[in-house]
Formats: sequence, C-alpha cells, structure tokens
Amino acid sequence: PNKVTNIACIGAGYVGGPTMAVIAQKCPHIKVTVVDINEKRIADWNDIDLSKLPVYEPGLDQVVAESRDRNLFFSTDVEGAIREAQMIFISVNTPTKTYGIGKGMAADLKYVELCARQIADVATEDKIIVEKSTLPVRTAQAIRTIMNAAPARPNSPSPAPRFTVLSNPEFLAEGTAVKDLHNPDRVLIGGEEDEDGQRAIEALATIYANWVPGERILTTRIWSSELSKLTANAFLAQRISSINALSALCEKTGADVDEVAHAIGTDSRIGPKFLKSSVGFGGSCFQKDILNLVYLCRHFNLPEVADYWEQVVKLNDYQKQRFAKQIIDTLFNTVSGKKIAFLGWAFKKDTNDTRESAAIYVADELLQDRAEIHIYDPKVPTERIYADLEYLQQHRRPQAVIADRAKQSDPPETLSSEAIRRLVHVHKTPYAAMEQAHAIAVLTEWDEFRTYDWQKIYDAMRKPAFVFDGRNILNREELNNIGFELQSIGRG
Ligand code: NAD
Ligand code: UDX
Repeated sequence: PNKVTNIACIGAGYVGGPTMAVIAQKCPHIKVTVVDINEKRIADWNDIDLSKLPVYEPGLDQVVAESRDRNLFFSTDVEGAIREAQMIFISVNTPTKTYGIGKGMAADLKYVELCARQIADVATEDKIIVEKSTLPVRTAQAIRTIMNAAPARPNSPSPAPRFTVLSNPEFLAEGTAVKDLHNPDRVLIGGEEDEDGQRAIEALATIYANWVPGERILTTRIWSSELSKLTANAFLAQRISSINALSALCEKTGADVDEVAHAIGTDSRIGPKFLKSSVGFGGSCFQKDILNLVYLCRHFNLPEVADYWEQVVKLNDYQKQRFAKQIIDTLFNTVSGKKIAFLGWAFKKDTNDTRESAAIYVADELLQDRAEIHIYDPKVPTERIYADLEYLQQHRRPQAVIADRAKQSDPPETLSSEAIRRLVHVHKTPYAAMEQAHAIAVLTEWDEFRTYDWQKIYDAMRKPAFVFDGRNILNREELNNIGFELQSIGRG
C-alpha cells in the first residue's frame, strides 16, 4: 500500500511546476500530473517551445523536456487527476489576505480550502494529501476536518476513503530552483504519529529517496514541520534586515557594509550566506510569511514575539524607502521630469518573478515625485511591470515608514493607470533605457549589468551622471574613473 505510482499536484506555479518536474525526472516509474485552473498557464507548460514555460528557471527547460509526456503531464482536469492519484500535493498560492479579518497580515487560505473540499468531493479511494504550500501552523487540522466531514457515499461499493495529511514544505529559492531541488539541504516531512501517519511519511520519503540521501530526509511531527517553514523564512529575512539596518549606520560612519558582512560571516557561528546588503528583500515569500507569523503570534496572544518579527518587515520597508529618498535627495531634492533608468525589475536575478520586488516600491516613491522611469530587465515582460505598479496603487499596505512619512508630507497619492503609462517606459535594450538619463538605479543583481560598456553609457548620459547601486554589484573603481557619481548601499 506504500507504493505510490500516481501523483497529482494542484497548482502549476513557481513551486508546483519545478518541484513536480524534478520528481518526474528522478522517478520515471511514477506518473506525475500537475493541474491548474489557469488554462493559459497549463498551455504554456505544454508549449513545444520551451522558452515559453511560464516559470523561468535556469535548467528547468531540460528537466521538463526530459519527462514531459513520458511521466509528467500538465492538465486542467483537476478532478480527473485527483481521482487517479494516490498522493496529492497542494501547491496553490497562499497570499496575504487583502480583505476582512487579518487583512494585510494573515495568509489567505481560501485556495487551499477549495482544494481540500474538491478532493473530499471527488475521491473514492484512500489519498495521502501533502501540504506543499506554505501554511500557518495547524492548517493540517483544518484540512483534516474538511476531509472527515465528506458525506458518506451510500451507493459506493467501497468503504469510505481515508485521508492522511502530511506537511512537506518547499525550501527552494527562485533562480536556483532546479539546483535546490536536485540537491536540497534537507527535505522535511511532518506527519501524524499514528500508524497511518507513519505509513504516509514513509511513502513520501521513499519518493525523495530516489535522489536525496537518507540523512537529509527529516521527519517530524506535523506542527513542527508547518512551523519550521515560517521559521526558516523569518530567520533568513531577519539576517537581511539585520545587515540592511547596519548599512544605514555604515553610511553615517564611513564603514563599508560588505567588509563588515565579510568580517562577521567568517565566524562559523554566523556563516557567510544571506548577509548581502541590498535595496531590500522582495519575493513572494519573506514578507508574506513573516506577516503570517506575526498574525499567528498576535492570535495566540504573544504581542512581544509578534513585535519582534514584525520589525524585520518594517526595516525592509525602511530600506526601500531610504533608497528612493537618497535618489531624490541627491538629485537636488526633486526628480520631477527627470529621467531615472532602472536596471532590473525582478526581485532577484535569474527569475522572471516580480512579486514584492523592491523595484516596485522604489518606482512608486519616485513616481510620487513625478519622475520619468525607464526600465530594462532581461526577463520581465513589459505588461508585468505596469500590472505591478497598478496593483500597488490599489493594495498599499499601511507601512510603518509610510506612516512616518505622513508626518513629513502627505500620504502617497494613488496614481492612475494613464499616469503610470505616461511616466514609465519599458525598454528592450539597456542602452536605450539609460540614454540621456539623469541617474541610473540598479534594482536587481543580474550578472549582465556588470559587463556593460560603462564608458558608452556615461557618454550618453546627462551630467553629473549619478548611479545608485542598490545591489553593490558594479565595479566602483571603474565607474569612478570614468566619472560617474556612484552611490552604493552601506558605504560612507
Ligand atoms: P503561484 O501563484 O506561482 O502558483 C499557484 C497556482 O495555483 C496558480 O497557478 C493558481 O492558478 C493555482 N491554483 C489556485 N487555486 C487553485 C485551485 N483551486 N485549483 C487548481 N489550481 C489552483 O504560487 P507559488 O509561488 O508556486 O507558491 C505556491 C505555494 O508555495 C505558496 O504557499 C508559497 O508560499 C509556497 N512557496 C513558494 C516558494 C517560491 O519560491 N515561490 C517557495 C517555497 C514555498
Ligand atoms: C526564499 C527562501 O530562500 C526559500 O528557502 C523559500 O523556499 C522561499 O523564499 P526566494 O524568495 O525565492 O526564496 O529567494 P531568496 O534567495 O531567498 O531571496 C529573497 C530576497 O532577498 C531577494 O529579493 C534577494 O535579492 C534578497 N536577498 C537575499 C538579499 O537582499 N540579500 C541576501 O543576502 C540574500
């Protein structure tokens, strides 16, 4: 009964797509079907032209090419996939709630709940349900309650199906998803302590054991597994906010934040990773998961714990706003009518994902001051950029820093789509974006930015030629020698 030969995954996004592609690649004996209600997304996963895959990740095209239509299938037939599978991964989005109780903080579990109800409605045989989405601790209980309330089927010859819920959070980072999935630091599986739970854990562990060494497959109680995911993201983001907090002090004192990070990172207790100071962290996970953690702490009446973690997000807001303010201050206290070139829009390099990218917030701050923004990103489509800015106008989170800003001036204006399209221009080449610019801002650490002909860029810019390196990736000496006025994060 432990032998799984048929897997379904609900949700063909940044997690479901790559995760299932790798399982299919490593387990040719298992049929893997990834389903989604988004027809366009499924069509793109099935496109013969692999450059059209909806998720850009280095190496993903080869993984998909290897197993697609062999044992990896993408489909919109959610019910069919549920019916056939012995194990069902739930990998749908769990965004921050934008309405009602917990608005702006709690995770919106409506998509997860819909999946649970659909499985309960459709299933006629036993199923193992795997939480792959990031969920608040104790969600498995809610899923179980829904499953167990499924009405008995009087006409069915077989006994009522049994459902076992596992937690198997995903730790991949975008941009390195395939590498992380092939060679994970660990795989975490949480389950119930009873016999069914233990058997389900073993079934899932057996799948990963096809390529992950046994000692890296950790099994825990289910609540520990659920909470470990939020905790891991909170710790990672906390390191970035810590170094970003120090970057502000470095700028005041003449210390260099990259030197400080290197110096402390060599302490084996601290370690060198996730200490790169930046314009602020982005991505669909860190902010959402910390706010979710904060909400949970408040829910369980732990206000001190909640405030502690909330500060990580506040500091990140501060860092993004500080960067924008530095641009405005340096450009003689106004960017109105000035051309500011953005290098990068994605939230990090090697991805086309822009969710919560720092670039969106910095652009918004500059647009409030009526800047003209010219953007180049190697992977992000033009319409995505407009959609990001338009979305922000409708969904501003009451930010701590924005609240402070109310003391100085008025709260942010809501910009119309027309205003955004008038002021924001997206370019196909970096040189076109930077031509005649008053300033350049580096928002994403794409490798290609280092290799540009910076003399040519300088010659085509207005003088003084300002560069704000929000990622500290440009060659400082080279740019200074050319004549740029370069400002980096955390350098006095
Ligand atoms: P995503 O938005 O890219 O993909 C989710 C998909 O689920 C969408 O395509 C949506 O159409 C589909 N969906 C929603 N409801 C559905 C339903 N009822 N039936 C069928 N399909 C449905 O999201 P993502 O980035 O893949 O994240 C998914 C989960 O994984 C989230 O909980 C996230 O926190 C977690 N996670 C994300 C990352 C990451 O790097 N993006 C890493 C680890 C964990
Ligand atoms: C993160 C977690 O790393 C991953 O384990 C989890 O599964 C999902 O959330 P992701 O958001 O895809 O992954 O990318 P990550 O590499 O963590 O970067 C997040 C943000 O932090 C990016 O904007 C990145 O530029 C920024 N960052 C990262 C820094 O500013 N400095 C650093 O040192 C590291």
